[in-house]
Amino acid sequence: MEQNTERKKVIFSAIQPSGTITLGNYLGALKNWTAMQDEFNCIFALADLHTITVRQEPAKFRHNILEAYALLLACGVDLDKSIFFMQSHVHTHAELAWILNCYTQFGELSRMTQFKDKSAKHADNINAGLFTYPALMAADILLYQADLVPVGADQKQHLELTRNIAERFNGLYSPTFVVPDPYIPKNGARVMSLQDPSRKMSKSDENANSYVALLDKPEDILRKFKRAVTDSEASVHYAEGKDGVNNLMGIYSSITGRTFEQIEQEFAGKGYGDFKTAVGEAVVEHLRPIQERYADYIKNKDYLQQCYRDSAEKALAISIRTLRKVMKKIGYVQ
Ligand code: TRP
Repeated sequence: MEQNTERKKVIFSAIQPSGTITLGNYLGALKNWTAMQDEFNCIFALADLHTITVRQEPAKFRHNILEAYALLLACGVDLDKSIFFMQSHVHTHAELAWILNCYTQFGELSRMTQFKDKSAKHADNINAGLFTYPALMAADILLYQADLVPVGADQKQHLELTRNIAERFNGLYSPTFVVPDPYIPKNGARVMSLQDPSRKMSKSDENANSYVALLDKPEDILRKFKRAVTDSEASVHYAEGKDGVNNLMGIYSSITGRTFEQIEQEFAGKGYGDFKTAVGEAVVEHLRPIQERYADYIKNKDYLQQCYRDSAEKALAISIRTLRKVMKKIGYVQ
């Protein structure tokens, strides 16, 4: 079978296990991860080295990592098709990150808006890791010679920097890295806060009513949607200035596959109460099998361990080839 058939493109993506995973993460990224697995050669990671750029409480951190791992399997990451590992288990990431640090300029890192935002938010802990974070992210991507990286708006600048680092290295030595392109998934929803729909839904929001966690209980999900901020017009349609309703429509559309027009028809003449209940129920029903699978996985620690060890081994085998190539070109003694 491995004749001249075109090589499947490699996709790399990662998510930080920095807290509970939200509906925003799911509809914005994770749902697409699972959808891409047939078309692409997918390599997924939990970016747990990135996570310690913000101080973590050890027991909670360990719990968050395992929870995220099990939850992503429950969402449909399929280890028969894809690799899904923990970044901290594959030593090539930290090694290439160090090397790439030396090919990344202080000025470039200083311009990263996420660094500026995070250092304002954690003014008591502006550590060097927070600053060099994009070099680690570049290492993640370049180690696997990824062709495509699905990115939301908040990571676009980091991917741009990754491209610059790759091109710089290739130019200094000879072609070594694939220069990755951003991949904009066909239906990537941008889910906003249920309490302030001008802002992105975020698990670090102090108000837990503003986000839906994938593991929230059904009654909590329904309540959060009932309390979602809308407007005083009481008409379900998509329009500028109706951020709250637009957001709920986006969520409903993404979950049910219905178009905005169909949704407008479905709720013509009905109020926001009915609409919010319908959205809440659709989300609950969609998450139910995911939550059930999660409950099975998280009980089965041996199985989880087998999964992440296996994937780490595969990831190492691929990534070490790139690392060796890089080191040889730089001049390290083989
Ligand atoms: N920095 C990303 C985030 O916080 C996570 C991440 C780490 C990532 N390495 C990556 C995303 C490589 C894409 C590719 O969301």
